[in-house]
Amino acid sequence: MTEQPLNDLVIDDVRVTFDGFVAVDGVSLRVGPGDLRFLIGPNGAGKTTLVDAITGLTPATGSVRFGGRELLGRPVHRIVRLGIGRTFQTATVFENLTVLQNLDIAAGTTRRPHTLLRRRRTVPDEVQRALETTGLTGQRDRAAGTLAHGQKQWLEIGMLLVQNVQLLLLDEPVAGMSHEEREQTGQLLQRVGEDRTVVVIEHDMDFMRAFAASVTVLHAGRVLSEGTVAEVRADPRVQEVYLGETAVA
Ligand SMILES: Nc1ncnc2c1ncn2[C@@H]1O[C@H](COP(=O)(O)OP(=O)(O)O)[C@@H](O)[C@H]1O
Ligand SMILES: [Mg+2]
Repeated sequence: MTEQPLNDLVIDDVRVTFDGFVAVDGVSLRVGPGDLRFLIGPNGAGKTTLVDAITGLTPATGSVRFGGRELLGRPVHRIVRLGIGRTFQTATVFENLTVLQNLDIAAGTTRRPHTLLRRRRTVPDEVQRALETTGLTGQRDRAAGTLAHGQKQWLEIGMLLVQNVQLLLLDEPVAGMSHEEREQTGQLLQRVGEDRTVVVIEHDMDFMRAFAASVTVLHAGRVLSEGTVAEVRADPRVQEVYLGETAVA
């Protein structure tokens, strides 16, 4: 899974407009492999819209390249095929199927429904690795619907891992999680980010402080600040937009 060359995400002057309203206003940023980039900013800053643009869900101008390939203008399924995956705030797992079945479907190892119902003798390598990485090995035969909130998010991340995703874009993955689940998620993201490019949209400052390798702050559709956690926390412009929001300090 890790033999492929590592990839850069290069975003250049991306703009998204909804009926004349500019939601993303000329964003440029670069995220390298092995990074764990947090994309933060107040509500409405344009974080989700930027990820929508990268993944082909909303039209945008400018340029988004991953591993040198232009993504803008490609349909969603072709972007997925380039090794790019995202999660949404609400986990989108098949609740009635087991953890293993969810991973099988994501991996494309099961094509006919009846093979899903049969008891598995062997588990494909990539599925086994995803179970281990996400810490879900012990849950593999449980229906996904019975998992704890945090475990569902980990399963969703596992479903990206089995697709050999090289760029993961995660939209507020720890929203609604307990403190312990947050810790475990942060550690999972650090493991995943060792050999992949990971962008995490986050609103939770404590979580960012604990796990971000680098941070980009968006505000009103633009990049307000960028750097290490310490650098963006020390930036007066960041402190200003977060006044009345979650304290940055
Ligand atoms: N489909 C849409 N149509 C019109 N406006 C939208 C749409 N999606 C998002 N917006 C607006 O774009 C801005 C950025 O939204 P969003 O990217 O969801 O922000 P964030 O994820 O940073 O909270 C907000 O003002 C939001 O209301
Ligand atoms: Mg959002």
